[in-house]
Amino acid sequence: MGNDMLSLLLLRLFLVLSALVALAAAQSGTDCNPIKTSGCPLDIGLTNNPYSVDSTKGTMDQASWTSSGAGSVIYTSQGAVLTLSKKGDAPTISTNWYIFFGRVEVLMRAAPRTGIVSSVVLGSDDGDEIDWELIGGNNDEVQTNYFGKGNVTLYNRGGNSAVHDVQGTRHNYTIDWQIGQLTWYVDGKAVRTLKEEDAVGGLNYPQTPMKLRIGSWAGGDPDNAPGTIAWAGGVTDYTKGPFTMYVERMSVTNQYPAASYSYGDMSGNWDSIVLKKDGAADGDQSKEGIVKKNGSSGIASATNSSSLLASSSSSSSQSSPTLYLSSATMGRGDGYVGRLFKVGGGLVLLPFILHFVI
Ligand SMILES: *[C@@H]1O[C@H](CO)[C@@H](O)[C@H](O)[C@H]1NC(C)=O
Ligand SMILES: *[C@@H]1O[C@H](CO)[C@@H](O)[C@H](O)[C@H]1NC(C)=O
Ligand SMILES: *[C@@H]1O[C@H](CO)[C@@H](O)[C@H](O)[C@H]1NC(C)=O
Ligand SMILES: *[C@@H]1O[C@H](CO)[C@@H](O)[C@H](O)[C@H]1NC(C)=O
Repeated sequence: MGNDMLSLLLLRLFLVLSALVALAAAQSGTDCNPIKTSGCPLDIGLTNNPYSVDSTKGTMDQASWTSSGAGSVIYTSQGAVLTLSKKGDAPTISTNWYIFFGRVEVLMRAAPRTGIVSSVVLGSDDGDEIDWELIGGNNDEVQTNYFGKGNVTLYNRGGNSAVHDVQGTRHNYTIDWQIGQLTWYVDGKAVRTLKEEDAVGGLNYPQTPMKLRIGSWAGGDPDNAPGTIAWAGGVTDYTKGPFTMYVERMSVTNQYPAASYSYGDMSGNWDSIVLKKDGAADGDQSKEGIVKKNGSSGIASATNSSSLLASSSSSSSQSSPTLYLSSATMGRGDGYVGRLFKVGGGLVLLPFILHFVI
């Protein structure tokens, strides 16, 4: 009994520490937190949807990706080759755009060795995060994790799944991120599912526009906190380097595409996110929409992933369902139009097009 208690305590400590590590990673990418600060820049949306890049073609798709962090990122027939060779290196590639729910598939091989971590992270501006973490000292496991609104106090976020030879063999790591439910897949097999209501009643469910970031870093750097080093499997021995991860392919589907996203309020909830068409001025409701549920609970799945806001051209809007509304009667949060509403067991997104505004 005493041993069980101790194990539980250690497990909790471990999970808290992993949470802190991953959060630190998330925070480094966030300059302006829209649930704490107003006037943050818009998030550019992925409109070239679905998007896919084969990085074994030997070039970088510069319109979509930016490299950051010290270390080396080159493109060869093995894919994007991210090499960490010395202290301070953390080669990373990140998308220039955000997605608002959807599917992210990464085909890759993790970097080897104790104290080296390979990460695939979907992260938002307010600290929502969905992660894959591959710890270099363990060639047969992948960790999954998530965060909501930067909250690190919940203990049961992390998960471990057995995957054979993550360093030598290319695997398919897919995240299917939907309103209501999030599933991590390895090679087509669901290894973990998180339901929205199980993340602090939805409060800590990842639900704001996210960028994709892929990279490796030295979790075991001797200057890191002892808990971080322990989580990374031990101290990084840089003399054993270079440490290389290979990313062969990324495919991304943006579930609710838009030219840009902004936070309509400081709740950080998905139904507060404003989707804008190209060139929409702030508050121009003829070019804005919100994904909104009708009813307070029971969200199971979205049945229609198309959004008029997807196309930067406005041609499709003419032939689509026309809704005559006024901004006076349709405040944000009313839940009728340009939003998700419930039909049968699913949800349908109607375009939010104002043909006149009072
Ligand atoms: C953070 O998570 C805890 C559960 O560990 C929850 O009680 C709390 O409401 C959450 N806070 C925020 C701000 O999300
Ligand atoms: C990767 O896994 C996802 C989820 O199962 C699947 O939809 C996709 O087709 C797979 N991709 C490849 C290239 O096998
Ligand atoms: C989603 O809605 C669009 C526009 O209303 C329609 O063209 C499309 O067929 C719908 N897709 C599904 C899967 O219902
Ligand atoms: C929600 O949908 C139901 C029909 O399913 C409708 O009767 C009701 O008015 C809707 N409520 C809101 C707030 O949109």
